[in-house]
Amino acid sequence: MNDAHVMIFDTTLRDGEQSPGASLNHREKLEIAHALAQLRVDVIEAGFPVASPGDFLAVNDVAQQVKGPIIAGLARCVKKDIECCAEALAPASRRRIHVFLATSAIHRKYKLHKARDEILRQAVESVQYARRFCDDIEFSPEDASRTEPDFLAQVVEAVIDAGAGTVNIPDTVGYAIPSEFGRLIAYLHENVPNIGHAVINVHCHNDLGLAVANSLAAVQNGARGIECTINGLGERAGNCALEEIVMALHTRRDLFHLDTGIATREIHRISRLVSRMTGMMVQRNKAIVGANAFAHEAGIHQDGILKNRSTYEIMSPQDIGMESGELVLGKHSGRHAFLHHLDRMGIRLTGAELDRAYERFVALADKKKTVYDDDLIAIARDEMLEYAAVYEMEYLHVSTGNHAVPTATVRLRKSGETLQDAACGDGPIDASLKTIDRMTGIQGRLLDFSLQSVSVGKDAMGEVSVRVDFGDCVLSAKAASTDIVEAGAKAYLFCVNRLLSIRETETTGKTVADPTADAPPELNRSAEETS
Ligand code: KIV
Ligand code: ZN
Repeated sequence: MNDAHVMIFDTTLRDGEQSPGASLNHREKLEIAHALAQLRVDVIEAGFPVASPGDFLAVNDVAQQVKGPIIAGLARCVKKDIECCAEALAPASRRRIHVFLATSAIHRKYKLHKARDEILRQAVESVQYARRFCDDIEFSPEDASRTEPDFLAQVVEAVIDAGAGTVNIPDTVGYAIPSEFGRLIAYLHENVPNIGHAVINVHCHNDLGLAVANSLAAVQNGARGIECTINGLGERAGNCALEEIVMALHTRRDLFHLDTGIATREIHRISRLVSRMTGMMVQRNKAIVGANAFAHEAGIHQDGILKNRSTYEIMSPQDIGMESGELVLGKHSGRHAFLHHLDRMGIRLTGAELDRAYERFVALADKKKTVYDDDLIAIARDEMLEYAAVYEMEYLHVSTGNHAVPTATVRLRKSGETLQDAACGDGPIDASLKTIDRMTGIQGRLLDFSLQSVSVGKDAMGEVSVRVDFGDCVLSAKAASTDIVEAGAKAYLFCVNRLLSIRETETTGKTVADPTADAPPELNRSAEETS
């Protein structure tokens, strides 16, 4: 391998999806995986197949459909995880099984109740077992940065001997400091005799805001793979942000003398796609992809920029594909222009979805002067249905005010029949959702309701994300509209329809569980971690 190449291992669909509040459905995961391939990442970690039927199907479909990058799946050092991961990855022409086991004293004592030699044996046996299914194996000693360096070196040497081609050194809890983390990577290079037979990756969490700095220190000390996520999504404070690490290496090539294969001009587009699909907003002043990242406010700066951009700009918005322009379509744009823009953003809709999305675009363009890329992503996402909608909303009327009793009238369509009802509530959302509950006979408890503006202006669409507890499962959905009450009611109805589709599947046993449902608690990673 070219020693100046740093492999970019994207884990947006696995660690990123573990971000509190960032759930993605099956279609959204596939769209993101296609966009990651266009970004030219080296590896896509598509999920943790044993965690839930949904994760399994997502990894399996990504393995089947996404060409170019290596497709990786995560597995604990447990036979059933490895077998499940191998099965999910089988369709991929380039696949990797990523096994992990905690090695630090804290995890050994409190979580795993295992001694060093047991950990060492389990790690080696798991790598050997995984090699039966796949040639490309990655091993991660979880909590590596808090592991005794001599024991870590012993584990790394043993798993390389057992057949791991990549060893990842995670700073699982985001505890490391750059100089210290760099020294750890150097220490491994000095003390692991066979280290030249593997690529050393790093996987840094951002609890102290140091994930990117730690990853840079690691590559300066010999690491050649960086695990990262779009917009820095991930457990707790997130992971190393792909856009930041890539642009740091790109902009400071004079210092690092390292390359990634990333198509940097795709960065802006994928950042927005992931933000819209996960519902996780990018802060305005976020490095590289924030709305202010290239905005110059101070007069003195503007003056400098006008004289010569290099006075205050270390990279150009064009480098990350920002020049594509915000304003895309208007009232007079036809179907062809609409299709062209969806295509440019890498969004694939089926015939019926496309018809519905176009109809909504026309209605939206009629209401608001300008339609932005983000509006199109929101519309497309609403129309990517993965299950038959039992109920469709035909009409919603709400009357509300600070001296009125909020009342909603809802008309739904179910199997060709029209149903109508009305109810009061303590606000327009409460009234609308109560009416839907009454009409469907399904009681959902709203766990979360958040609203964000899709684009700019008073006439912008509002996007509502909801999480609803139906007793036997918790579902989430998003919907957008220029009317925020309508967006909330639609998102809630998406959850009801999804619930009905899961229940139908369970009674008829036609397919595996709905891939878009949240993982059942007993299959959640944390619940099983100690095995
Ligand atoms: O943070 C971590 O340690 C992980 C491992 C599974 C690589 O995500
Ligand atoms: Zn992680």
